[in-house]
Amino acid sequence: MSNSEKQREQQEVSVQWFPGHMAKTRRKIREILPLIDAVAEVVDARIPYSSRNPEINQLIGNKPHIILLNKSDMADKEVTDRWIRHYKSQGIAAIAIDCKSGRGINLFKDTVKTALAERLKAYAEKGMTGKPLRVMVVGIPNVGKSSFINRIAGRSRAKVENRPGVTRGNQWFTIDRQLELLDTPGVLWPKFEDPAVGERLAFTGAVKDRILDTELLAMRLLEYLSKNYAQLLVSRYGELDFESDSYGLLCQIGKKRGMVIKGGETDTERAANMLLEEYRSCKIGLISLESVDDNA
Ligand code: G4P
Repeated sequence: MSNSEKQREQQEVSVQWFPGHMAKTRRKIREILPLIDAVAEVVDARIPYSSRNPEINQLIGNKPHIILLNKSDMADKEVTDRWIRHYKSQGIAAIAIDCKSGRGINLFKDTVKTALAERLKAYAEKGMTGKPLRVMVVGIPNVGKSSFINRIAGRSRAKVENRPGVTRGNQWFTIDRQLELLDTPGVLWPKFEDPAVGERLAFTGAVKDRILDTELLAMRLLEYLSKNYAQLLVSRYGELDFESDSYGLLCQIGKKRGMVIKGGETDTERAANMLLEEYRSCKIGLISLESVDDNA
């Protein structure tokens, strides 16, 4: 494929999306809201904007809200810290966590208690000191919601319980005498209709490559990386001519790795797969794909 053909197609990168059961999820969440004290929303720290459900703020209304920036082990710490400050400035509690190592998980309980200080005081005034706080954990698929619940609750504590007035089969987890978690009743989808969101979900691997053109995806990633993390690209692949466009960059990187086909041309498909794999496994470095300035 020629360079100009690539560029033309680049305009057309978009992700198919399937609305799933948002209506059902919406109804279930509304039904359960009166029973919970707060919502803990798990997002991917590398893409805190794209890994959110676009309706969540509206759905949970003024329930206390805690954002858990998960996979922080893969993100740029400075950028994650700025997101945390940003959420806090909006009155939303936020912490960085990493469910692979467990880092940050121990902050969760105290963060919930601080976010719910007023509620705890009201319970105490009514003599309801033994009442556990109930927190609903939400998140789009693949952000690490199950990893978080398993980390904090441990598999052995998982239980399925039916409470009066609540749809059967909701998953409640008892963390300790003071805290119970509820898994999202249903599936929350990202804002797939926005092509930029679909693209970033594909960069991280949350959306499978096969519905997108791998080379175009790799070129788009290179466009972003050359603007924001050029030094990391150089450290990984050696000196690069950043004057060339993203297709040219992909060719340079492929050549450096010996990915050449007959006639001396770069095997751009192999190069693209390699680049995406190396981004996703953090071999290029700890990289955030969304900054507060561009996405909040
Ligand atoms: P979900 O319930 O929100 O759908 O997500 P889930 O916990 O299944 O996690 C999705 C993937 O993300 C899993 O990888 C999981 O291991 C990984 N993951 C979750 N939290 C973290 C984190 O904090 N850091 C890192 N680096 N990875 C995290 P997978 O490839 O699907 O499975 P596997 O690697 O566990 O076999």
